[in-house]
Amino acid sequence: MKRAKITIVGAGNVGATTAHWCAAAELGDIVLLDIPQTEDMPKGKALDLMQSSPVFGFDANIVGTTSYEATAGSDVVVITAGIPRKPGMSRDDLLATNAKIMGAVCSEVKSSSPNAIIIVVSNPLDAMVQRALQVTGFPPNRVLGQAGVLDTARYRTFLAMELGVSVEDVSALLMGGHGDTMVPMPSCTSVGGIPVTQLIAPERLEEIVDRTRKGGAEIVGLLKTGSAYYAPAAATAQMVEAIVRDKKRLIPCAAYCDKEYGVGGFYVGVPVILGTGGVEKIVELKLTADEQKAFQASVDAVKGLVDTMATLV
Ligand code: LAC
Repeated sequence: MKRAKITIVGAGNVGATTAHWCAAAELGDIVLLDIPQTEDMPKGKALDLMQSSPVFGFDANIVGTTSYEATAGSDVVVITAGIPRKPGMSRDDLLATNAKIMGAVCSEVKSSSPNAIIIVVSNPLDAMVQRALQVTGFPPNRVLGQAGVLDTARYRTFLAMELGVSVEDVSALLMGGHGDTMVPMPSCTSVGGIPVTQLIAPERLEEIVDRTRKGGAEIVGLLKTGSAYYAPAAATAQMVEAIVRDKKRLIPCAAYCDKEYGVGGFYVGVPVILGTGGVEKIVELKLTADEQKAFQASVDAVKGLVDTMATLV
């Protein structure tokens, strides 16, 4: 069987680490692309990564480039390009700069890989993935965003730390935008099959959710020069795996919701089935009145951001 071709646009921390996880999991051949001003940097990272393959025992062709030619015919294109946050900045502060970068990248991707599935990672995530859809005109099932797997991974980590249990036993779901309005779903969170509400008191659970909401900012505050990359990259690699191995994972992603959840044509984090067709299904849950209210607030925040973006690009 032919190996999948995975292009990663942006060879910074998130892009290079995504390449690392994808290569180590033998998900396919990888092209790591960055802007021409970076000169040989993507080539250096790609070669270095490839030279780790005999040690770890994976087979993958890994190429670094500054030209879209090498990316032609990719099956999956991960877009991490854009500026990251600095301390004190919100994801939304990146809107103007990253919307322009996203537009330029997506018009290249549209012509070089017209059949690709695009995973957007750049922030502010929900607006950037909408921009990718606008510019490529690809069907919405082939344009999605990475956020829910990361947010849920942070939440699962904090829950495991709280309870002193293996992260493997914590299963959880967060919905909504990738930002301060993300919506926890306690009814969809369990530990070893036990509803989390039986293990953690509501006030403590709310504190853990709040830390999750601010999880990205916590890392920015510690790193000072940029934002998180190990967990965002791991989350992205899991989505790439779901697509190239047709795993039909049921995971939260930023997906284009029109009639679904009554969103009306915007990207927001919802549970989806992810496989070789991209977003193969958006899973609609019955939300409680509180969840619905929080979800709507999140959707409204995303819409506001998309409206502002329209005035900037
Ligand atoms: C975060 C950034 C990458 O959540 O959005 O860490």
